[in-house]
Amino acid sequence: MTAKPFLRALAGQRLATPPFWLMRQAGRYLPEYRATRTQAGSFLDLCYNPDLAVEVTLQPLRRYGMDAAILFSDILVIPDALRQRVAFREGEGPILPPIRSIKDLDSLDSSGLLDHLAPVLATVRGLASAIPATTALIGFAGAPWTVATYMIEGGGSKDFGHAKHLMWSQPDLFARLMDLLVKATGDYLIAQIDAGAEAIQIFDTWAGALPETEFRRWVIGPARALTERIHSERPGVPVIGFPRGAGVLYRAYVEETKVDGVSLDTAVPLDWAAAELQPRCTVQGNLDPLLLVAGGEALDAGIDRILTALGKGPFIFNLGHGIVPPTPPEHVARLAERLKSWKG
Ligand code: CP3
Repeated sequence: MTAKPFLRALAGQRLATPPFWLMRQAGRYLPEYRATRTQAGSFLDLCYNPDLAVEVTLQPLRRYGMDAAILFSDILVIPDALRQRVAFREGEGPILPPIRSIKDLDSLDSSGLLDHLAPVLATVRGLASAIPATTALIGFAGAPWTVATYMIEGGGSKDFGHAKHLMWSQPDLFARLMDLLVKATGDYLIAQIDAGAEAIQIFDTWAGALPETEFRRWVIGPARALTERIHSERPGVPVIGFPRGAGVLYRAYVEETKVDGVSLDTAVPLDWAAAELQPRCTVQGNLDPLLLVAGGEALDAGIDRILTALGKGPFIFNLGHGIVPPTPPEHVARLAERLKSWKG
């Protein structure tokens, strides 16, 4: 059995002092991140520069001593590697030429996927030898549905109008895109594990946008396929699912995907998660990232409520979504100190 607290919690152990890491723990709230990003050029240049990507992954660990490092990259390197060129414009988020027809779909090219992603895999290898001995290394990918929304919309979206239209009006085309993403994402995650990733998180940020029937098919289906593939091809490597916004369908997600851990968004009620999810897998979450902006006693109370409710079973402390840029670094320090001194 591993001595790394994060992996022990994912294997189902309850720890008196729960391990923690934070989604988007490397990012713009840290001045040293902003400096390294400027040095890299663009955000994608940073993702494809193994030395600098290792550096920004390590920055939050040096300050706060998280129990896990998450590979610094982005979910949109998959469309980029499929030759749907991704650009990040300052203050605007990602922009891609949208996929909305058979012709667009046929322009995607999955040959050489892992060659394109070689710099990201080099970052994983660099991290495996650079992180502290008790820190675990998390690899990740976007879930097919969430990645497909960016590919079809051509960027971020409020209502996923184009993605849903394609899903319902051209179901065969949509299914082909999803199948391609399941295959590419699986190959990529297996390659991350072979490069040294010790656990995998699948980010389905927009899972909550789908009605039940489509949620079961396009959120649960691909997550189950990816989890089954990892469990069978790389036994012992745990998978965490993050079906953000799934509501009561969190339970079906956990039961049917067979994930080892589930990441809770901010809205999931703690007692419900303790009763319905925690007997079935390790839970992770779910502090509101805006409480980390507010700080003070509201932050302390929010942290303690989560630790009290979820600390009785297998649990990893995290946020309900990523750290936002206005977060004062001192508030993250306050959180880390409080977590490390907790004995439940
Ligand atoms: O958690 C970590 O520290 C690891 C790195 C990581 C990033 N993105 C870095 C990043 C991870 C795991 C992601 C996942 C990701 N990327 C998701 C799923 C999780 C979530 O946050 O919902 C999504 C939807 C994306 C797509 C994406 N990347 C968007 C929409 C944007 C623009 C919005 C924004 O915050 O600027 C990004 C950019 C991005 N990814 C940044 C970082 C640190 C900011 C880029 C910058 O430096 O300007």
